[in-house]
Amino acid sequence: MRNILITGGAGFIGSHLVRLMVNKYPEYRIINLDKLTYAGNLANLKDVENKSNYVFVKADICDFSMMQSVFTEYGVDGVIHLAAESHVDRSIKDPFAFAQTNVMGTLSLLQAAKLAWEGKFEGKLFYHVSTDEVYGSLQPDGGFFTEKTKYDPHSPYSASKASSDHFVRAYYDTYGLPVKISNCSNNYGSFQFPEKLIPLFINNIRHNKELPVYGKGENVRDWLFVEDHARAIDLIFHRGKVGDTYNIGGFNEWKNIDLIKVIIRVTDRLLGNPEGTSLHLIRHVTDRAGHDVRYAIDSTKLKNELGWEPSLQFEEGIEKTVKWYLENQEWLNNVTSGEYQQYYEKMYGMK
Ligand code: NAD
Ligand code: TYD
Repeated sequence: MRNILITGGAGFIGSHLVRLMVNKYPEYRIINLDKLTYAGNLANLKDVENKSNYVFVKADICDFSMMQSVFTEYGVDGVIHLAAESHVDRSIKDPFAFAQTNVMGTLSLLQAAKLAWEGKFEGKLFYHVSTDEVYGSLQPDGGFFTEKTKYDPHSPYSASKASSDHFVRAYYDTYGLPVKISNCSNNYGSFQFPEKLIPLFINNIRHNKELPVYGKGENVRDWLFVEDHARAIDLIFHRGKVGDTYNIGGFNEWKNIDLIKVIIRVTDRLLGNPEGTSLHLIRHVTDRAGHDVRYAIDSTKLKNELGWEPSLQFEEGIEKTVKWYLENQEWLNNVTSGEYQQYYEKMYGMK
């Protein structure tokens, strides 16, 4: 039996990973540890919550003595660490929360792992799930991020993730803690909190609300279907080289404004609206401070060494995604009630 601790398993990517691991590895015990912030929701895991190889622990990764008890109580021998504050706009408004959870929380987990596993590192693993945003910003014709690209984070979010990556590597270099890191591009799919571009815009179109496009909408992001990310994490966790970094991405770059037009086209069609109905909702608003121009990931190493490739074409992934949000209005209503309503009104000055 292997006891795998997944942190942040009630969030967007974490819930897809927990579902995959619980279903694929009945011989493992999957311990989902999550603080259930505004972004964490146990409704994301309804289909696995009664499985005998699944346990949920509500805890804050910054609580070091609690992390030590979890390692002891569950005999944790593998960690896949996703718990984080993850939204760039929030990091601009409240950077402290990002340093606290992403840096101090990661350090607290690393130290708990080191103390629990000291003298018996063989067969143990601490895997940090990170982002391509640590590499900074590319020019439109500026090539790709590789595993050798120097870290150059710009936002408080990416600075905190870069710092946590450095701590993970420091524990490998200094103490020999077995670690792996992956840096992935922007994910999309079901169960993503609707403050991020794709679910926010689908939901706004449905409710005939304006679509706030930052600046000219010319920034470029590289989009990957979330289930393909979860498959890559599983593969790297089991077959990646200890001490290594892997970039994950699907060579799928989109200018924001072009992506938004695709979202409008697909959402209007699925709602039964004539083509172009919601284009008038586009509203160009003040640009995000320090807005990174372009992210683009080279994931050749992952393909060559471990044989990973994305399974879905973007058109298929976006169709599935729009359908899911349109069919899961109740989930959207639940996660966007209360605190989020006030945040949204303050952020965009509109309801
Ligand atoms: P998310 O915001 O949807 O989920 C984060 C989860 O972490 C939530 O369930 C939340 O409750 C939990 N959490 C937050 N603070 C915590 C704390 N102090 N203790 C315990 N749990 C806590 O995020 P996501 O988009 O699923 O991202 C997951 C990870 O993947 C993050 O580390 C993020 O940096 C990384 N990542 C995300 C993307 C993306 O496109 N979303 C891309 C690459 C990497
Ligand atoms: P987001 O989903 O927040 O991901 P990230 O900032 O981590 O890349 O944003 C994706 C892109 O969309 C980014 O360039 C910012 C832009 N954006 C908007 O134009 N309007 C919005 O309301 C949001 C949330 C994002």
